Amino acid sequence: MNHQHMNKSGAKTGNARLLAWIDQVAELCKPDSIHWCDGSQEEYDRLCEEMVQAGTMIRLNPELRPNSFLARSDPDDVARVEDRTFICSTTEEEAGPNNNWVAPDEMKQTLNGLFDGCMRGRVMYVCPFSMGPLGSPIAHIGVQVTDSAYAAVNMRIMTRMGDAVLDTLGAEGEFVPCLHSVGAPLAPGAADTAWPCSETKYIVHFPEDRSIWSYGSGYGGNALLGKKCFALRIASAMARDEGWLAEHMLILGLESPEGEKTYVAAAFPSACGKTNLAMLIPPTGFDGWKATTVGDDIAWIKPGKDGRLHAINPEAGYFGVAPGTSMDSNPNAMRMLAKNCIFTNVALTDDGDVWWEGMDGAPPAHAIDWQGNDWTPDSGRPAAHPNSRFTAPATECPSLDPDWEAPEGVPIDAFIFGGRLSRTFPLVYQARDWAHGVYMAATMGSEATAAAVGQAAIRRDPMAMLPFCGYNMGEYWAHWLAMGERVAKPPAIFRVNWFRKDGDGKFIWPGFGENMRVLKWVVDRVRGNATAEASPFGLMPRHEDMTWTGLDFPRESFLELTAIDRAEGLAEAEDQKEHFAQFNGQLPVALEQQRVDMTERLNQAPEVWRAEG
Ligand code: GTP
Ligand code: SPV
Ligand code: MN
Repeated sequence: MNHQHMNKSGAKTGNARLLAWIDQVAELCKPDSIHWCDGSQEEYDRLCEEMVQAGTMIRLNPELRPNSFLARSDPDDVARVEDRTFICSTTEEEAGPNNNWVAPDEMKQTLNGLFDGCMRGRVMYVCPFSMGPLGSPIAHIGVQVTDSAYAAVNMRIMTRMGDAVLDTLGAEGEFVPCLHSVGAPLAPGAADTAWPCSETKYIVHFPEDRSIWSYGSGYGGNALLGKKCFALRIASAMARDEGWLAEHMLILGLESPEGEKTYVAAAFPSACGKTNLAMLIPPTGFDGWKATTVGDDIAWIKPGKDGRLHAINPEAGYFGVAPGTSMDSNPNAMRMLAKNCIFTNVALTDDGDVWWEGMDGAPPAHAIDWQGNDWTPDSGRPAAHPNSRFTAPATECPSLDPDWEAPEGVPIDAFIFGGRLSRTFPLVYQARDWAHGVYMAATMGSEATAAAVGQAAIRRDPMAMLPFCGYNMGEYWAHWLAMGERVAKPPAIFRVNWFRKDGDGKFIWPGFGENMRVLKWVVDRVRGNATAEASPFGLMPRHEDMTWTGLDFPRESFLELTAIDRAEGLAEAEDQKEHFAQFNGQLPVALEQQRVDMTERLNQAPEVWRAEG
């Protein structure tokens, strides 16, 4: 076995724990060779070229999309697999009803069986990475071992990866071991497939050891272990122990024409618009306002010396949903995707470029769909998979915030929570205080996006963290309540809903760039520059509290968008009972009290409450 980095002359690290782990993993997985990724451009280019030769990636037309690639996954490996995701804490109670649990010893036995020889015939890539700017007091180091070159090149975009991380790690540094295999060993001389993976999938977290084992998938959050596995599931458990927060949040800077900068962090469930909001361009009527992007998916948040919470984006790139991205919905993202990107499961046009549903202009007359088949607009099926994605370096984002790599993070003045809710919930409301805000976030729901017809069922997705909280959600809520006490100036908390529909099933709110109008009210509230009206849900703007220049949005539409129907509100409060009941042993009493208080306010409200002043 070619294992040059194990001997003293070749080793790039003197970290004994890392070297021992690599030895142990190599012995278990039995790869043909080991490659320590240095993170260089040359290495990235070489791995991409090798994947082009092997048929895993297609080089896009360099004139239209320089240095960019398309990968097509196995049709059974297209998204995270929540039912195959496990939190193996010592007890089931610690994992909570929000997670799948198997006893750690039992799971380790299963995994040792699966990983035995799983990398036969393959290269084992060792990818040292930092979540957060190298050396930031908020950052943490991980090492992903993977038999997927696709995962390695994506990790180079999504994290700070390579030799510099080993330097920062040093001889004694701590890291989270992240073991990944696509679970498709190659017999001697056997031909590989374009997208090796296994029917058997396990995405496993050991919060006590702070380690991750992922088997069988090459896709997104299953395979890029710095993202959901480390930066959310393991990090949320670390954050509970150490007094900080690891959240499924975008981070956005808002600068007024006077040059005052306010940062907000916003949590929306998957595919509910974080990337859109993170890259928003202020609309007409907001001359002189600037919106800047710190992150689009994950925030690590710690108390700062100034009594505020400070956030970093632990990632270095964006793994965003392609369909629906256009010059109309997200011009910054379209410009970001001009070069140096990897696309997965989008369509290939005849001139060697990419296409997906919702892109600007007419669909191409002919394309190759995400499964490699001929496609025409009347094929009756989408050309791009609905969860097709782009991987883009943060540095390609035109709206990137100048302080996106500030080691101490940016100060957060508001948390915003929002789901996809076609009824009941108004455009925006503010929490009366921290505990009320935690309640608003803990009861957040969102409608299943595919089943958009009729009375879509609401999936409770507290803090947009349901699939990502690495421990008991009841305990997580208690941690959130406690965090408000740890800082002198906790952020104000808001709920928003861009997705309310009218009687004809149409979105009432134009959304996208126009969401700036809501953000402006949020900024005004945080800075004490706007009034609000107490509603049964929370503090709400009246029509005259918001800026309407450049948008014709009549007062009547606003009243429809912000009305609170007493019966619907009470049904919601009743439904929350069931949600809370799942966490009975761990549910903080303060949250049930908030639910009772809201019921009380609704009982005293008119049949339909309107923000009329
Ligand atoms: P993950 O990457 O999966 O965590 O998701 P994300 O939250 O970043 O999702 P993304 O930004 O890709 O969500 C895109 C979806 O949200 C698309 O269906 C958009 O049409 C929709 N969307 C985003 N913003 C708005 C809005 O303001 N109004 C409406 N109606 N839809 C929106
Ligand atoms: C999500 O599902 O919330 C994502 C995509 O951000 S993935 O990285 O695949 O989890
Ligand atoms: Mn996400």
